[in-house]
Amino acid sequence: MGTGAGGASVGGSGSDQRVAATAAASPASAINPAVPDLPPTVKGMNDILSPEVSKWQFVEEKARSVLEAFAYRELRTPILEYTPLFVRSVGEDTEVVEKQMYTFPDRDGQSVSMRPEGTASAVRAYLAHSQWTREPVTRWYYLGPMFRHERAQRGRLRQFHQVGAEVFGLAAPTVDAEMIAMLVAMLVEMGIKPSDLELAVNTLGEPEERASYREALRGYFSNHLDKLDEGSRLRLQTNPLRILDSKDPDIQTLAADAPVLLDLLGDASKRHFEAVRSHLSALGIESVVDTKLVRGLDYYTGTIFEVKARIGDLGAQNTLGGGGRYDRLVSSLGGPEVPAIGFGMGIERVLLALAEPAEEFEPVLALFIAVLGEKAQAWALPVAHRLRMEGVRAEMEHRQASLKSQLKRADALKARLALIVGDNELQSGKLVLRDLATRQQHEVTEAELEGKIRQLVDF
Ligand code: HAM
Repeated sequence: MGTGAGGASVGGSGSDQRVAATAAASPASAINPAVPDLPPTVKGMNDILSPEVSKWQFVEEKARSVLEAFAYRELRTPILEYTPLFVRSVGEDTEVVEKQMYTFPDRDGQSVSMRPEGTASAVRAYLAHSQWTREPVTRWYYLGPMFRHERAQRGRLRQFHQVGAEVFGLAAPTVDAEMIAMLVAMLVEMGIKPSDLELAVNTLGEPEERASYREALRGYFSNHLDKLDEGSRLRLQTNPLRILDSKDPDIQTLAADAPVLLDLLGDASKRHFEAVRSHLSALGIESVVDTKLVRGLDYYTGTIFEVKARIGDLGAQNTLGGGGRYDRLVSSLGGPEVPAIGFGMGIERVLLALAEPAEEFEPVLALFIAVLGEKAQAWALPVAHRLRMEGVRAEMEHRQASLKSQLKRADALKARLALIVGDNELQSGKLVLRDLATRQQHEVTEAELEGKIRQLVDF
């Protein structure tokens, strides 16, 4: 069994894949000096436009197709929830609830929060719809914006987007392995090499085991009070596990010698964790045990995990996704005892880890219809419409412009073909279809048009 320091990849050896910067993840608000009075976007919240949006759509489509292959169904929940939902599930003493939530009184005076994550809402929906009475196992996924008032920087936003998955009703270690494998598969399908991913796993055991571990940690850190900063001293009382998560190098050194939860676990917890790791190996997924991995949300029990990217300059923001078991959350919110496990994956971070420039994800414009004169324009409108309804991506000119400028526009749009239509072509019924890459021209009738386009353009 390895430790956190080792850094084994999910599978295979390292690579030198580089990462391109994308505006999608830039923390800068869009300010346009040409429109000086326009309010900027809220810090850490970005517009997403083309070509970046194409890369987003690619990531979302890949995620959906993997999730659907694992038989997950989409769940859509509101962005606003009553604040106590997050306080009771994510936990009062967590950074997220203490410092990062967008919380405000609704106009009727009730405290509402913009969701900082998706698990709490999924569990609320599970309970609200008595989902356990409808089916023994519920597999849900979601895609959408989450909100945390964090220090905005590369890969860390205040409105960020997650793909998340949650499964309710299954306790076996095979499910933990399946869930982790699904996250890895998603990232690999998106184009990240397994060798550029690093999977860290740990277990938090049962709440009772964790309680005695907390005491062991309190004992250890109390002997080193002088080395703790103010925040860590506070955590010593509230949640000493979070000291293990500290970014302060001195505290990290101190934490390196702290007692390890894994050593204090009972047989059942140990066996479950070992089984998860061996199922992962059977799936060809290497995992590294990181005994300092605690995750920042209070609902976890048992297996927890994070997948980091080794590529690019994501810095401390290189965790692409993370999750774990939360077998007690459904019951702690008033429901039956239903085991559950899930993960959240940050879309912005995945985009930063994907080297290909956004332009490469743009859809192909099959046809640009250049029209000379009003008659041609009137002819082109229903023709373009029919082609579009047949799935041919097409644009036509609606302005009066010279053929030269229309063809320039077709090139700028990276159209594959241009159809050139003027009075002569309409009269003779012989249309000119030009391949904009090879400059080859083809004479076609209106009836032959769609077939010829399909022959020349790969859809
Ligand atoms: P989380 O670790 O807080 O877990 O977030 C999951 C992922 O969301 C992170 O690994 C990261 O990629 C992304 N993320 C988080 N905060 C930001 C941010 N400010 N900017 C950009 N990306 C961010 C959860 O949210 C849990 N609900 C996961 C889970 C589901 N556990 C069980 N089920």
